[in-house]
Amino acid sequence: MNHKKALKHNIFKIISQSAKELNLDSYVIGGFVRDYLLQRGNAKDIDIVAVGSGIALAKQVAKNLPNKPKVQVFKTYGTAMLKYNDIEVEFVGARKESYNENSRNPVVENGTLQDDQNRRDFSINALALDLSQDNFGDLLDPFNGVEDLQNKIIRTPLDPDITYSDDPLRMMRAIRFATQLGFTIEKESLDAITRNNNRIKIITKERIVVELNKILESKTPSIGFLLLEKTGLLKHILPELTALKGIDEVEGQRHKDNFYHTLEVVDNIAKHTDDVWLRWAALLHDIGKAPTKKFSKKVGWTFHAHEFEGSKMVYHLFKRLKMPLNEKMKFVQKLVFMSSRPIVLAQDIVTDSAVRRLVFDAGDYVDDLMTLCEADITTKNPKKFNKYHNNFKIVREKIIEVEEKDSIRNFQPPVTGEEIMKTFNLKPSREIGIIKEAIKEAILEGEIPNDHEAAFNLMLEKGKALGLKTKDE
Ligand code: CTP
Repeated sequence: MNHKKALKHNIFKIISQSAKELNLDSYVIGGFVRDYLLQRGNAKDIDIVAVGSGIALAKQVAKNLPNKPKVQVFKTYGTAMLKYNDIEVEFVGARKESYNENSRNPVVENGTLQDDQNRRDFSINALALDLSQDNFGDLLDPFNGVEDLQNKIIRTPLDPDITYSDDPLRMMRAIRFATQLGFTIEKESLDAITRNNNRIKIITKERIVVELNKILESKTPSIGFLLLEKTGLLKHILPELTALKGIDEVEGQRHKDNFYHTLEVVDNIAKHTDDVWLRWAALLHDIGKAPTKKFSKKVGWTFHAHEFEGSKMVYHLFKRLKMPLNEKMKFVQKLVFMSSRPIVLAQDIVTDSAVRRLVFDAGDYVDDLMTLCEADITTKNPKKFNKYHNNFKIVREKIIEVEEKDSIRNFQPPVTGEEIMKTFNLKPSREIGIIKEAIKEAILEGEIPNDHEAAFNLMLEKGKALGLKTKDE
C-alpha cells in the first residue's frame, strides 16, 4: 500500500532529500503512522528511523529547513530532536537492541529497518512509511499491524515475554493504548503482562505516572484500571486502590466494593471534566476507607474519618510516585477531605446556612467539589439517585444565590482585628478572636449580611457582652 497522502507536509520532502544527500534510507515510524491510519489526527510528533546515523540525518535536515532549527542531541541514546513550527521530529538510527535484566540501559548495535521494527512495542506501533525518493509513502508492515488496527488488537511483534522484559513500561503502554483506543490486548500478551507484572518495579515513577495520566485522561478510564488490576500491575503502583477491593460480610451486613465504586465514579466524572487533577481526586476520594473500615454490631460498617485519612494518604502517594507536591496535590487533598460534605447536605433539606458553610470551607474548589460529588452518586436505586441529583441541583443554585448575596467564597472578615482593637482600646488578646468568630458565625448562619455596618454593630454588641468599653464610654 502507498500512503503518500500521509506525507503531504513539506517536512517529509526535506527529510527525504536530506537522507538522499547522506546516502541513507529513512522512514516515518510509530505513532504518526498509527494515528494517520486511525484518522486520529495526531501529527505533531514525528519519529524518523534512519538506517545509519539518526543524529547526522537530523543535522542535515536542520540545515535544509528554512528556519534552521537547533538540533538537540541525546548522545547516550543515539537520538536527536528538532522542532519545526509546531512539529517535533525525533531521529534515531535503526538498531538491534536488547536491554539489561535490571536496568533500562540498552545494549545497542546498528541494525536494519526490520531489526528496528522487531524491537518496537506493538505491531500497530511498528508500522513504517518509506521516505526514499523511489518508494515515497510505501507502507512497511512486517507484523500485520494494519490488520491489528482493523481488528482493534494490541499485539507485540516478538514473543511478548521478550518485548515486555526489554522494557517493562510497555506493559502499562499496552493497557494505556487499550484504554485510549478501545482495543483488546491479545491473550498471550495479557498473560505475559500478568507473569511479568513485578518487573514494573524497575521503571521510574515518572514514566509510570505519564501512562497513568493518559489512562485517566481517556474517555473511559475504568478500562485501564480494570486491566491494571487484572494483570496484577495495580498492586505495585497504587496499592491504596487494590486495598479497596472486596466486600466483607459480618452478621449478614455487607458494604459495597469500594474499588468498583471508585471506577464508576471516575468514569462518571470523565463525562464532565477533562481536568486530570479532578479525575485524580475521583480516583482517590475513597482511599481512606480501607484503613478506617470497622464493623460494630450497633451501626454495622463504618469508615470513620476516612476523608481525613484519605487526604493524608494523598500526600504519601504523590510523594512515592514523584508527582508534584504543589497546589495540584493540595487540590486533590482538599477534594478528598471534603468529598462527603455535599452528600450529607443532599440527603437532607438543603438549608442556606449549610450551603454558606460549604462555600466557606471549599472556597474556589466548590464547583469542582460539586462535580466530584455528583459523580459519586452510583446508587442503583432510582428513587435515591433522583433525590440526590435534585438536591445537588438545589445546592448548586443556592451556591450562586449565596454568592450573589454575600461573598463567602474567599471570605475576608468585614471587621478586622485592628478595628476591634481600636474601638475597644485593646491590646492583642483573645477577645478579638472571640468577636471575629462570632461575626463569621453570624454571617454563615445568615443572621447578618456580609457587610461592614452589620458586622460593626454585632462587634459592639459582642464587646458589650464581654464587658468591654469603647473609647468614648
Ligand atoms: N516505543 C517502543 N517502546 C516504548 C516506547 C516507544 O517500542 N516503551 C516505540 C513505538 O514504536 C512508538 C514509538 O516508539 O510508536 C514512539 O513512542 P512514543 O512517542 O512514546 O509513543 P507513540 O506511539 O508516538 O504514542 P503517543 O504519542 O500516544 O504516546
